[in-house]
Parts: sequence; C-alpha cells; structure tokens
Amino acid sequence: MNPLVVGNWKMNGTLSQASNLAAAIVQGTSQKTPKAAVVLAPPATALGTVQERIATSGISLAGQNCHWEDNGAFTGEISPAMLADLGCTYVIVGHSERRHVFNESDEITARKLAAAIRNNLRPILCVGETLDQRNAGRTMEVILRQIQFALKEPNENVIANLDIAYEPVWAIGTGHNADPSQIAEVHGAIRSHLTNSFGKASVRILYGGSVNAENATDLGRISEVNGLLVGGASLKPESFLRVVRCFDDE
Ligand code: 13P
Repeated sequence: MNPLVVGNWKMNGTLSQASNLAAAIVQGTSQKTPKAAVVLAPPATALGTVQERIATSGISLAGQNCHWEDNGAFTGEISPAMLADLGCTYVIVGHSERRHVFNESDEITARKLAAAIRNNLRPILCVGETLDQRNAGRTMEVILRQIQFALKEPNENVIANLDIAYEPVWAIGTGHNADPSQIAEVHGAIRSHLTNSFGKASVRILYGGSVNAENATDLGRISEVNGLLVGGASLKPESFLRVVRCFDDE
C-alpha cells in the first residue's frame, strides 16, 4: 500500500481559509502525483467546501471524529453515515484530544471504530501514551491495551479497512517529536501484535506528533512508519506539501 499523509486541521479555518488551503494543496499535487496517498481532515463545517475543492484530485476527505450511532437524539454530534454522505472515506477515531480533553474511553473509541466500518469509512485509529505513562515504563502496555480494546471484535472487514496512528500525547503540538528509536520500538510492537493476531494485515501505521517540513523525511524513513499524521504543519500548504513529498523517490 502507498504511504499515507493525513492533514488534521483540528478546530481551525473559516470556509474561505479552508477553501484556499485545499485549493493550494490540490495545486501542489497536480503537476506530479505524490507517492503518498493524501487525506485532508478539515473541521466538520468545512467538509462540503473542501470536498468541492478536492473532487477529481485524488485527495481523500476525512472526518476528525464521529458518533457511534448512525442517527438519533445526540445533539451536536455527527454520525459516520453523515460523514460518508458528505464524501468522506476516512475518519479519525480515538485522537488523543478526544480521549484526554473530552474524556472518551477505550469503550467509546471501539464503538466509533465499529460504526465507521459499518458505514464504509476507513478509520484511522489513534493511540499514544502520556508523558507520565512513558516515564513509568508503561508505553507498550497502554498502546497495546488501546489497540486490543478498539479491535475487540475484529473481523476481516475491520482488519482490511483500518489504519493506525501512533501519536504520543507528549509530542502533539509541542515541537518535540518522538525520536526514531522510540517510534521504531512502538511501531514494531504494534506490527508484531497485528501479525500475531491477524496474520499479514494491510494496516498502515502512521506516526504523528510535531511532524513538520524539516523532520518529515527522517521520520518517514523509520522502519514501520507507513505514513504521517500532521497537525499544525498541515495548515500551511508549503509545509504540508513538503511532508507529502517526503515519501517521493529522490
Ligand atoms: P501536531 O502535528 O500539531 O503536533 O499535531 C499532531 C496531531 O495531533 C495530528 O492528529
């Protein structure tokens, strides 16, 4: 599978800003098709606008979050069916900001993941430890628990339509990315777990946390890094395009 580069815009961008950013990214990928598959995750309010900009470009659309039901009395929520209706083919599930700012549990994350699959969205399951957990030597335990919970009732459909992003909480938005040995260790453990549990799976394992134009090439070369999940640096077309291009052959 091609590597995957995802721009998570988080809660940023008016419609005109989202439109301009998407247009610049389309422009920057139109001359030469990047080796990496490109996914944009704008805020929900801009999904329709961004979808119009990226139509026919080969770039895919993602929701940043979804509910676990397809519809119902859940004021303020957006269902995976609604995301699919808007043209999304991916959805981020279990982002650390959902887990830690909005207190979403492993159980809720598992339900969202199942709902995404049920609606033909490809979930990008985020996992990652806090600094306290890392310092206590609990990194692997936390990450494998997050994965085991989310894949509690896996079937072939889930394993064939899933990507995982390792995003250490302490590396998000801090300017301090995890170092290559830390990333290789965690990605290797995730890969071993997947292989032992499901055999050879087409799951890509992305790294996220302070990825930028300067460090992307080195991060992309680490073994078992099959893509990058980009926050802040995805808000500027030049930096995001340099991250996307880091997987191109030199
Ligand atoms: P930053 O790239 O801003 O550290 O954010 C990472 C992230 O949370 C992407 O989902």
